[in-house]
Order: sequence, then C-alpha cells, then structure tokens
Amino acid sequence: MLKNWFRHGYNKVAKTRLAEKEKFGVLQAHPAAQRHAEEAMEAHAEKQTKLKSNQKEFKIYRWNPQYPNHKPFLQSFFVDLSKCGPMVLDALQKIKAEEDSSLSYRRSCREGICGSCGMNIDGANTVACLKPIDADTSKPTIVTPLPHMFVIKDLVVDLTNFYQQYKSIEPWLKTRRSPEDGREFRQSQAERKKLDGLYECILCACCSASCPPYWWNPEEFLGPAALLHAYRWISDSRDEFEKERLQAIVEDDTKLYRCRTVKNCTANCPKSLDPSSAIHHMKAMHLISKSNIKLPNN
Ligand code: SF4
Ligand code: SF4
Ligand code: FES
Repeated sequence: MLKNWFRHGYNKVAKTRLAEKEKFGVLQAHPAAQRHAEEAMEAHAEKQTKLKSNQKEFKIYRWNPQYPNHKPFLQSFFVDLSKCGPMVLDALQKIKAEEDSSLSYRRSCREGICGSCGMNIDGANTVACLKPIDADTSKPTIVTPLPHMFVIKDLVVDLTNFYQQYKSIEPWLKTRRSPEDGREFRQSQAERKKLDGLYECILCACCSASCPPYWWNPEEFLGPAALLHAYRWISDSRDEFEKERLQAIVEDDTKLYRCRTVKNCTANCPKSLDPSSAIHHMKAMHLISKSNIKLPNN
C-alpha cells in the first residue's frame, strides 16, 4: 500500500518535471534562459490565479527623476476589490500603503473639491477620487499622468505654467468703488445664478490636458481652465472690469482664438462644466463689441 503511494507520488513529480522540460526543450542548453522562462511561466500562472479571484490589476505609470536614464514604464499592482474602497484613488492609496510607498501622486480632499488628483485613467482625464473602479477584473485599469504635461515623478505633473495662466486672468473681484454699505457687494439671485457652471471649477487641469491646441501651444493659448475662469469674472455682476478682462484675452490671436471648439475640454471635465461654451460666449462678446473691426487671424 505504502509502496504504491510512493510510486504514485514519484510518477506525478516526474511527469510534471518532464512536462516542464518539454515546454522549454529548445532552451535546455541555456540554463539561465531556462530559468527565466520558468519564472515567466510562474508569474503568468500567478497572474491568472489572481485574475480569477477578486483581484483587479492596475497598470500604473512609473518614472523616477533619480534615475533620469531609465525609461518610464507601466508597473502592475493587484488589488483585492473586496478590501478596497470604490474609487481609483482608494486603490492608489491601498497600493501606496501596502505595496509601494514610493508611488507618487497628488491628493487631498478625496471628494472632488481640491482638484489635486487629476490624472488619466483608462484613456480619459479625470480626478481619481471621483472615478469608480471598473469592477471587470478580466482587464487592467491603466493609470497615467495628465497627457502633454512635464512629469515630475510617477503621476505628478508640473502645473507651474497652468497656474501662471490662471493667475494671468486676475481671478479676483475688481471694482472701482467701495460697496455702498461699506461692507459687501450684493447680487440679486438672478445675477448670482449666472455664475452657476463657472464657479465650481476645481482647477484639476483635466480639460486643458485634453485640449489639442493646448498641447501644441501650452504657453500662448490660455487653455480651457483659465478661460473658464476669465469668463467667470466677466460674468460677475459685481466686477467692473468686464471690457478690460475681455480685451486682455483678445489682445493677440493666441490666448483665446487658438480654441478650435473641438469640445474635448467639456467631455473630460469631472465636474460636468462646459469650458467650451464659456469660450464660445467670450468669442461672441468680442465679435459683438468689435463688429466693425476685423477679427484676429484664426
Ligand atoms: S473646445 Fe477649445 S478649449 Fe476645449 S478642447 Fe476644444 S480647442 Fe480646447
Ligand atoms: S473646467 Fe473642469 S476639467 Fe477644467 S479645471 Fe475646471 S473642473 Fe477641471
Ligand atoms: S483628492 Fe481632491 S479632487 Fe481628488
């Protein structure tokens, strides 16, 4: 009985080894290559096992400025969806806490208010804290930085130019007089309503990073986010510099008129705002105010 049991066990092991050798027979004279092939097979088998369970694969863009000669690459992480919050930011937090603390990305509020976590998820720009994880574990979720921006590390991009452009539209209330009651400027409900769809912008840069004219002219063209804010202040009944604000963005043919109304910006805004429409309104205002003057070359 015992003899049979040993023989059965021996045959099983021998058969497995034979099968492995048969698999990589062509590499028999190359032990290192044989080992690599075996490791690759093991990794593949492990990946298949994980995929069959509740494990979701995240392929995340990695680049470290400490190794400038190393090319960026996509690194795979597996997250058990039953032990993770519902949003992509939750998965990133779990990976950073449990697997690789060097993974870099921006986040703060985790509820779509601060605009820090703008990134590209499965091909679309959005904020990771408002993007639900695709529960289909048969395919990976691919997370990369906002496109056409300089990468500082992993998912962190350089927003210096973006914020300078925002600053350039002077995003604050400008008046020539003091409030009548000496305390505050008042608005009617209808005047206040004109700001809906404009003031909610969180400066996540998802729109500007999805705009082809902004990709090609990031310094000259202000981009949809800064232009949405310009229109927000132009639309504010309390602001007394409407004409000057408009003049400042049409003084050349690049700041506003590089927009080709493709509407990628509107399609990618995670707050469902419509920068393209704001830009269109400012072009119309300019056209009306200067209807007797030739428009800048577009
Ligand atoms: S509508 Fe204008 S600003 Fe928006 S993506 Fe298209 S070109 Fe860019
Ligand atoms: S308009 Fe939308 S996409 Fe653009 S910066 Fe504001 S919130 Fe982000
Ligand atoms: S963490 Fe604030 S918007 Fe995502």
